[in-house]
Amino acid sequence: MKIKLGKKDKGDKPEKRTESLSDKSKFAIVESYKAARSNIMFALSADDNKIFAVTSYSKGEGKSTVSANLAISFSKMERRVLLVDCDLRRPNVHNIFKVENTSGLSNIIGKMVEFEDVVNRNVIPNLDILTSGTIPPNPSELLCSPRFVKLIEGLSDEYDYIIFDTPPIGVVADALLLKDLVAGFVVVLRERSTTHGDIQNTLESFKLADSKILGFIKVGCTQSKKKSRRGYYYYQYY
Ligand SMILES: Nc1ncnc2c1ncn2[C@@H]1O[C@H](COP(=O)(O)OP(=O)(O)O)[C@@H](O)[C@H]1O
Ligand SMILES: [Mg+2]
Repeated sequence: MKIKLGKKDKGDKPEKRTESLSDKSKFAIVESYKAARSNIMFALSADDNKIFAVTSYSKGEGKSTVSANLAISFSKMERRVLLVDCDLRRPNVHNIFKVENTSGLSNIIGKMVEFEDVVNRNVIPNLDILTSGTIPPNPSELLCSPRFVKLIEGLSDEYDYIIFDTPPIGVVADALLLKDLVAGFVVVLRERSTTHGDIQNTLESFKLADSKILGFIKVGCTQSKKKSRRGYYYYQYY
């Protein structure tokens, strides 16, 4: 399965397309994710816990996109990876991977289904996906319920890495509710969107919650010099 990372250059002839910005950026994106993967692995190396969450301050900054791409990147190393959509308010992982979301995490916690019945196995080799399930009236309660904790603890033996996509911490506290389950958080910052104030608030929230930031991923969109509407995405890890 191919995940579209950059914008496709629809109008260009194939020979021109090979030199286009989006083609170059694809390589850059893949390399950036490899670098992010190495840094996250390094940050996790001292910890037995290989579960981490991806979050950001506001909505639309690229949490789901980054979670999905990190999950793909980790699965390429022949490790068993589970991506869990813990955004029980505006879930998006199922759209990115084009899988059903009639049942998922919320339904397991609500004791309506079992993990085995709803997990999407090997969406790409080594990558399983657990979608959000039905949007519940009480997402925060579900994420701190003993049943959720038990589910994830049980799954941690089955997977080398478990990645949580989460809602924005500037809007709801859901992500920080996961702090005792995860080794830490990867924070997404988006160019021309995340402000200094957002970063300050993010750092304060993490400090108050006594939870660990594994690193930051900066997501940006740079326009080409010719006033084209084509752009390319790039990612950096600090
Ligand atoms: N690096 C990027 N540059 C430009 N647009 C992006 C980038 N990453 C994601 N997007 C787009 O931004 C929107 C929000 O991304 P998403 O990952 O769903 O954010 P979040 O999960 O933080 O709400 C989507 O339409 C996605 O395609
Ligand atoms: Mg999202």
